[in-house]
Amino acid sequence: MCGIVGYTGCNQAAPILLEGLSKLEYRGYDSAGLAIESEDKIKVVRAKGRLHVLEEMTDNGRAMKGTCGIGHTRWATHGVPSVVNAHPHCNAKKTIAVVHNGIIENYQSIKAHLQKKGYQFESETDTEVIAHLLDSYYQGDPIEAIAKTMVRMTGSYALGILFFDQPGKVFAVRKDSPMIVGSTPEGNFLASDVPAILKYTKNVYFVDNMEIVSIGADSIHFYNLDQEEIEKEITTINWDAEAAEKGGYEHFMMKEIYEQPKAVQDTISPRIKDGEIVLEELGMTEDEIRKIRHIYMIGCGSAYHVCVSAKYVIEALARIPVEVDLASEFRYRDPILEEDSLVIIISQSGETADSIAALKEAKSKGAHVLGIVNVVGSSIAREADSVLYTWAGPEISVATTKAYSTQLAACYLIGIYFGKIRQTITDETYQELVEELMKLPDKIQRVLGDKERIQWFANKFAASKDIFFIGRGLDYGTSLEGSLKLKEISYIHSEAYAAGELKHGTISLIEKGILVVSVATQPELYEKMISNMVEVKSRGAYLMGLTCYGNYSMEDTANFTIYVPKTAKYFTNSLAVIPLQLLAYYVATARGLDVDKPRNLAKSVTVE
Ligand code: G6P
Repeated sequence: MCGIVGYTGCNQAAPILLEGLSKLEYRGYDSAGLAIESEDKIKVVRAKGRLHVLEEMTDNGRAMKGTCGIGHTRWATHGVPSVVNAHPHCNAKKTIAVVHNGIIENYQSIKAHLQKKGYQFESETDTEVIAHLLDSYYQGDPIEAIAKTMVRMTGSYALGILFFDQPGKVFAVRKDSPMIVGSTPEGNFLASDVPAILKYTKNVYFVDNMEIVSIGADSIHFYNLDQEEIEKEITTINWDAEAAEKGGYEHFMMKEIYEQPKAVQDTISPRIKDGEIVLEELGMTEDEIRKIRHIYMIGCGSAYHVCVSAKYVIEALARIPVEVDLASEFRYRDPILEEDSLVIIISQSGETADSIAALKEAKSKGAHVLGIVNVVGSSIAREADSVLYTWAGPEISVATTKAYSTQLAACYLIGIYFGKIRQTITDETYQELVEELMKLPDKIQRVLGDKERIQWFANKFAASKDIFFIGRGLDYGTSLEGSLKLKEISYIHSEAYAAGELKHGTISLIEKGILVVSVATQPELYEKMISNMVEVKSRGAYLMGLTCYGNYSMEDTANFTIYVPKTAKYFTNSLAVIPLQLLAYYVATARGLDVDKPRNLAKSVTVE
């Protein structure tokens, strides 16, 4: 999705902005642009395609003089990817420049209103109305013009704005789309996402909804919609700048796959003290936990798949019914939330539009909302009643790997902790599970050691047209994620099925030579899985079996088998998903695809 960077300070702005934008490339975009304040005007340069086009046009920014500016990477929503639709957008006199993330839902009525007043539009975007609307309200007071503009707009927006007659100042505002302000001795920054400015500062302000910011080279002032100045607290981000670099790997995805042992370790270990799980962050007393009657787990994409798997774990350990929902469905179905319900929203970015809307829906119905979130200070982290952070560090590759793994780990902690408090597991089981949980990072590391075999196998199937994934119970959750990883980055059609459902339709799609990946780690379902595998094999499928060491009879049925270390049956997803991530990665690279930036996808889906 779109990215915003702004800078004002004592250094040349354009090279800094381009560098910041390059750190946001992972979010997905199709055009980019800069607006820089120069002595006689606001200079705007825009380009379709990758950022390097803009870099070449501006000699890496050096050709654009000036120390104050805004930059943008656009992911087209309203209007095709093109130079005229790229941001920044300006008023006719080119004295106001705007970059925008989000969608202005009522832009057509605003546009019609402005056209009647004589305003002319050159792009198909919703953003251009903002530049003209600001122009219509601007009489020398930017905060006033911005506040009036905000009142007229519905939808979501994070804006970076320049006014030519306010030299050295960048203005910003947000509603339901993330925005941070970073402070350094050499100038101040605006960004839609932390990695854009991590190289320069870890000290940031989170802009809240309906707040306006005026950023000068050595001043930052926040205002509310009534144009009154407000005080804000600065937060220190604990991510390393190096964590957002490739560090010698060819792709961020591979780097992040390799970071999983550490990410899982970092998520688990601070919450286990002297062999006991400590989860004060949940903000719930033991009594409140005992009273929970229903859990709703909500997310999008891979975060939703974590919910699917976590349902099996939490229901088994804590004996609480868990309902799983896609955020985009939950938000519109007027969900029935009984008293004593806990709603868990899972999100890496903490900025996914549907997940935020689901959170608001749940809160409006009185439920306690727990966020499992990776980005500190993100919207979900701030709006939830309590937060359990996953400590995955910045995740850059669009296809999530380490965030997914840490979300699973967070859910295991909750399941075991609730089970102990509700006495639905014995003390002995509790101790065993805690010990096993602590061994997971090492076991993930061991699975990574098998990468050459998976690479060899992936090369064999890189030309596939369809690939199926099957599993039962928790393995069904793993299959969903394996299939999503593959289709996201390899563009091969893939489906995941609960193996018991095969005979209700999918089996008709099985033809000679089709790869069926069969995940079978659950002891009590192993034999059932073998039967399902035989069914598809007898129809010509080529079988990749994925099971735990010890289940060597898998080789009697599967054509190729991958083993993962034994662990508690609740945690097998964390190990089995690793070969599937590697399979997707190697299939995509064998096909020569850009794994970190797959077509049409965005890392963080901040619009509906
Ligand atoms: C996008 C990403 C997925 C991610 C989903 C939810 O579709 O490409 O990898 O799982 O959004 O994102 P979130 O930030 O809420 O976890």
